[in-house]
Amino acid sequence: MKLADNKATLSFSNGSPSVDLPVYHGSVGPDVVDIRKLYAQTGMFTYDPGFLSTAATQSAITYIDGDKGELLYRGYPIEQLATNCDFLETCHLLLYGELPNTDQKKDFTSRVTNHTMVNEQMQFFLRGFRRDAHPMAIMTGLVGALSAFYHDSTDITNPEHREIAAIRLIAKMPTLVAMAYKYTVGQPYMYPQNNLSYAGNFLHMMFATPCEKYVVNPVIERAMDRIFTLHADHEQNASTSTVRLCGSSGTNPFAAIAAGVACLWGPAHGGANEACLNMLEDIQKMGGVSKVGEFMEKVKDKNSGVRLMGFGHRVYKNYDPRAKLMQETCREVLTELGLQNDPLFKLAMALEKIALEDDYFVSRKLYPNVDFYSGIVQRAIGIPVPLFTAIFALARTVGWIAQLNEMIGDPEYKIGRPRQLFSGSVKRDVKPLAVR
Ligand code: SDX
Repeated sequence: MKLADNKATLSFSNGSPSVDLPVYHGSVGPDVVDIRKLYAQTGMFTYDPGFLSTAATQSAITYIDGDKGELLYRGYPIEQLATNCDFLETCHLLLYGELPNTDQKKDFTSRVTNHTMVNEQMQFFLRGFRRDAHPMAIMTGLVGALSAFYHDSTDITNPEHREIAAIRLIAKMPTLVAMAYKYTVGQPYMYPQNNLSYAGNFLHMMFATPCEKYVVNPVIERAMDRIFTLHADHEQNASTSTVRLCGSSGTNPFAAIAAGVACLWGPAHGGANEACLNMLEDIQKMGGVSKVGEFMEKVKDKNSGVRLMGFGHRVYKNYDPRAKLMQETCREVLTELGLQNDPLFKLAMALEKIALEDDYFVSRKLYPNVDFYSGIVQRAIGIPVPLFTAIFALARTVGWIAQLNEMIGDPEYKIGRPRQLFSGSVKRDVKPLAVR
């Protein structure tokens, strides 16, 4: 970051001495006012619940221009990556800062492929869950459990250990998600197949059975790979910030990623794809497109507590570029599967059209986000709704790891420890029970 010519001056109307605060530029996007010395200089904290105006770190990984609806991974627009690269090339880019050349891609793919199996003991963790356990409950447990197999071989201050942990997590997440799925449907786990692509291997572990040969459909394989790329990273979102804060204590990467999985589960975040599909199915049951107007009235009524899931975003105040790409992928998959007239896809497009013309949404700059179409394409592929967020976690693991390693690799990083504005009881004495 580069010190700006101008500075910020904080002055107080009560005559307290004003304070000059340095301003820094990044390479693109808003400047920052450096308040690291504010408490020492003024005895005051800043106050920003939800971090709407707070940069918690500097990062070189992902940049979002919310007004333009632009998303860049290491400077490359998501549209170009989703069209010209595959997910493992994108993983290499996020982790190391550059797209791989042919040899680097071959080496990276081979390293990931050779870590896709999990320890045979992992299957016994699953047996403790009910068969109807939510896949995200299972994934939070399984990812945390990976710590039990590697915590003594992960010195996060050692860059090589961080590297192998990254490869292990990227490689094993598809295996764990597929195991979580197979467990809930009572089918045997399918082992990874090293001759398949990353996305092809995932589809095989999900849908193959020991009873017959499973042939990966290349259109579905490409769509799955693109879904992974679209979800790979997204600046300092809630789950990434969770991973950074958790990792800042020096815990092992598997435990930090497990914290990210737990945070992503929430319906305001990664759980929105599941909530969005359920919302579409509810409207369909009510009567479909003819009931959209009635539903929208509920959404606009603050007291209803109803939100248009898959719409709105803290950063995007324009169309989420991932939603556009996801809609395209939806069309490709539905056409390939002969589901062009999928009622939910038609309903989603009708909802989008109405929302984008309705002042409630226009005035609040609410647009479809990545979760609006992702559920429809995953459901068409045969992925059960409760597994959508687990697939989001699978894809986001590379982003979480890249962000965690960026933080740990910065010699200046400290354990995160936010302060507060205290509004509780001031000091008082305990009264004996008899007189309370
Ligand atoms: C993801 O951060 C990331 O980058 C996340 C993510 C990633 O890749 O990591 O992009 C993934 O989490 C995408 C978002 C998925 N969530 C949803 O689709 C759930 C529905 N959307 C929201 O709940 C909401 O839009 C958020 C949580 C996404 C953003 O919330 P903000 O920025 O805190 O905005 P807000 O709740 O303050 O809303 C501003 C206004 C409010 O109205 P007013 O009080 O101003 O009158 O917009 C309204 C809200 O009521 N609003 C919505 C709405 N989202 C916001 N009204 C109806 N439906 C919605 N979906």
